[in-house]
Amino acid sequence: MEVVIVEDAAAGGEVVAQSIAALLRAAPSALLGVATGSTPGPVYRALTAKVEAGEVDVSSARIAQLDEYVGLPTGHPESYRSVVLREVVEPLGLGRDSFMGPDGSAADVRAACLAYDRALAAAGGVDLQLLGIGTDGHIGFNEPCSSLASRTRIKTLTEQTRVDNARFFGGDIEQVPRHVITQGIGTILEARHLVLLATGENKADAVALAVEGPVASVVPASALQLHPHATVVVDEAAASKLK
Ligand code: F6R
Repeated sequence: MEVVIVEDAAAGGEVVAQSIAALLRAAPSALLGVATGSTPGPVYRALTAKVEAGEVDVSSARIAQLDEYVGLPTGHPESYRSVVLREVVEPLGLGRDSFMGPDGSAADVRAACLAYDRALAAAGGVDLQLLGIGTDGHIGFNEPCSSLASRTRIKTLTEQTRVDNARFFGGDIEQVPRHVITQGIGTILEARHLVLLATGENKADAVALAVEGPVASVVPASALQLHPHATVVVDEAAASKLK
């Protein structure tokens, strides 16, 4: 695992965007696994700037979602499908056919989870998976005590994650769905390169446990220690509790 410490969130976004741009220059139709939430915004903005400056051609890139809320109506602005379309697919000028994600409104959620794992494999697997980290150490929505071998499946969000994400739902925790579909930790570990970005002091404890603690399901992000090509990009605040 390599740990890259940068000054701030904007610098983190630039470092990760450079890594994605380098991948796409070498493999134009690479499959990029994208995270949502606040953290990856600077990455998507920096990558979009590179596209607009003609520094990289992303027109053949493919995008895969990491997770999705269960039960939000189709087209809800905070469904992760909507967020990825708005923050990644549209700014990069990609078509909707370049994008894949789990179906959070499926009548048979279990079948939707199996179908998504199969679709990822059929697409050749994820080349670079961008991850954020929850304050409780989750990756994707694999909450503490998720099996390190888990596959894409339905999970119940912890109270802490619902509190953390209420800001996307007008501050009202009751509006935050209780269930999600998430790529499992085992699924995530199959990506060829994992890039975890963490910024801000509220991530410092989780980062320290993930990077320097024992590999344990109680800290799902510690599973990155098992991966042969994992990069953790942290700003100085998120790095503040590393030894
Ligand atoms: C989102 C996701 C989550 C977030 C994490 C951090 O697709 O998978 O693991 O990355 O909850 O969220 P932010 O970046 O909003 O602090």
